[in-house]
Amino acid sequence: MPKILILNGPNLNFLGTREPEIYGKFSLSEVEEICKEKAKTIGLELNFKQSNSEGELINYIQFSMDSTDGIIINPAAYTHTSVAILDALKQYKHPIIEVHLSNIYSREPFRKHSYVSPIAKGVICGFGAFGYVLALDAMYRLISDKEDF
Ligand code: DQA
Repeated sequence: MPKILILNGPNLNFLGTREPEIYGKFSLSEVEEICKEKAKTIGLELNFKQSNSEGELINYIQFSMDSTDGIIINPAAYTHTSVAILDALKQYKHPIIEVHLSNIYSREPFRKHSYVSPIAKGVICGFGAFGYVLALDAMYRLISDKEDF
């Protein structure tokens, strides 16, 4: 079964209580549950992680280089600042999908730039927790080379 890492950046551990009008009402563990259910349905093995630390996120990326088939990442605020996460992801040979709960293009100007987008296969933003489900579907499609709908 293909193995996927879902990586969540800083402050996403407060999902559900942190600005719910922007990020939605689901907690991170509820998002994890939703993702695990989806992964089970489509036949993906899932590792779901969150860290507030840039270095730890990079370690997760490095550790998963040879042991995963794809990464779905919501780098949170590091999206807009982290060359180090970009450099780590550049070494990753499998598909990368960038996810944001909010529509980063409809918010403050500094959120419009992402260091990760240029090396991502695709970006999903603005659909709340459902974006993770969409990303898993997209990842399955990329990995299994399926063209059908
Ligand atoms: C976010 C958007 C980022 O700009 C922000 O810093 C986050 C969450 C999102 O999922 O919408 O922490 O990545």
